[in-house]
Amino acid sequence: MTNLNLDAFVADLERLRSEVKKALANVADTEALEASRIVFLGAKNGQLKALQKGLGKLGSEDKPAGGQQFNAVKKSVEALFLQASQRVEAPLKNTKAVEQIDVTLPGNPIRFGRVHPITQTIRRVSSIMANLGFEAVDGPEVEDQWHNFEALAIPNEHPARDPLDNFYIAVANTDRPLLLRSQTSTVQIRVMEQRKPPLRIVSLGRVYRPDTADATHYPMFHQVEGLLIEPGATMAHLKSVLRSFASSFLGGDVRVRFRPSFFPFTEPSVEVDMEWNGRWIEMGGAGMVDPSVLQSVGYDPDEVCGFAFGLGVERIAARRFGVADIRDFYRNDIRFLEQFHDRGQA
Ligand code: FA5
Repeated sequence: MTNLNLDAFVADLERLRSEVKKALANVADTEALEASRIVFLGAKNGQLKALQKGLGKLGSEDKPAGGQQFNAVKKSVEALFLQASQRVEAPLKNTKAVEQIDVTLPGNPIRFGRVHPITQTIRRVSSIMANLGFEAVDGPEVEDQWHNFEALAIPNEHPARDPLDNFYIAVANTDRPLLLRSQTSTVQIRVMEQRKPPLRIVSLGRVYRPDTADATHYPMFHQVEGLLIEPGATMAHLKSVLRSFASSFLGGDVRVRFRPSFFPFTEPSVEVDMEWNGRWIEMGGAGMVDPSVLQSVGYDPDEVCGFAFGLGVERIAARRFGVADIRDFYRNDIRFLEQFHDRGQA
C-alpha cells in the first residue's frame, strides 16, 4: 500500500538532518554523543531506521528518487557524527599523550665533547707561562723568507732552507716563494720588529716540515716559543724559567738538562732535556739570542740581551699524557681522544 508521497518523505529526511545538527552541536562528551547516536542511528529504534521504513511506502515511480535522497541524508548524518566524535575525543587523545611520558624512565644521556689533548696542552702551557709573566702572541702560518730564515741568521745556503725540508708556496713574478713556517721563532722577529724591549712573550702555534711521520715526528706539529729580552738576562734565568714551567706542567720536581747544540739565531745554543719519572726526554732548543738577530730587528746588541726557547708541543703532551706515539693525536679516533681531560685547564 502506498500512502506516502515523495515530498513529505524528503521533508522528513531534511528535518532529521537539521535535528541531528542541532543535537550534536550541544554534545560535549562521549556519553552524550553515544546517547544521540542511539536516538538517531540506533539499529532498532533509531530515527533514521524509522525513515528507512517510509521508503517502502513510496509509490514505485518515487522509490528511486526517494532512495537517492535517503542515502544522501544518511551519509551526511554519519559525517556529522564523525565530526562530533573527533571534536569530543581530541582533548582526550592529547591528555593520553601527556600521560605516556614516564618521568621515572632514565633519560637519553647527553654526550659531552672534550677539548683535543693538544689544545688542552696549548691552553695549559699558555696559562703557566702567563703566571711567569709571558704574554701570549700570535704570528702567521704562511711566512716570508725574511721572518722564517734571514732575520734569524739562516743564510741562503743553509740546509734548513732546502726545498726538500720546507713547504714552499710559489708566488707569481718573484723568485722569493713564501712558505708554511717551519718554526715559531718567526714570531720572535715579528714582535721585536714592532716593540721595544723589555719583552716577555710566548707564542704557541702550528708549524710545518716535510718530515716522515713516526712516533715522534709529524709533518704538521706545534711549537711553544718563548722570548725574554731584559737587562742582565742569563742562561741561568733561562734554566729557571724552563724548570718552573716543566714542574708546573708535568707536576712534581722535574730536572732540566742543557746539552751544547747549534742554532744560527742563538749563541750559546743548547738542546733542552727534561727528566721525569726517571727518563730524560728531549723537548726542544734554546739559547741566548744571537747579537746578529738583535741587530736585524733594529736593537743594539750592546744594550739589550735575552734568551729564547722552542719546545715541541706534541712531545710535551705525549710526556704528560703517557702517549707513546704522537701520531695517535691525529688519527681522530674518538676512543683515544676522549681519555684526556685536564681538569680545570681545558
Ligand atoms: C727549532 O725549531 C728552533 N726554532 C727551536 C729554538 C727556538 C731554538 C728558540 C733556540 C731558540 P728544532 O728543529 O730542534 O728547533 O725543533 C724544536 C722541537 O720541535 C724539537 O725538539 C721537537 O720537540 C719538535 N719537533 C721538531 N720536528 C718535529 C716533528 N716533525 N714532529 C713533532 N715535533 C717536532
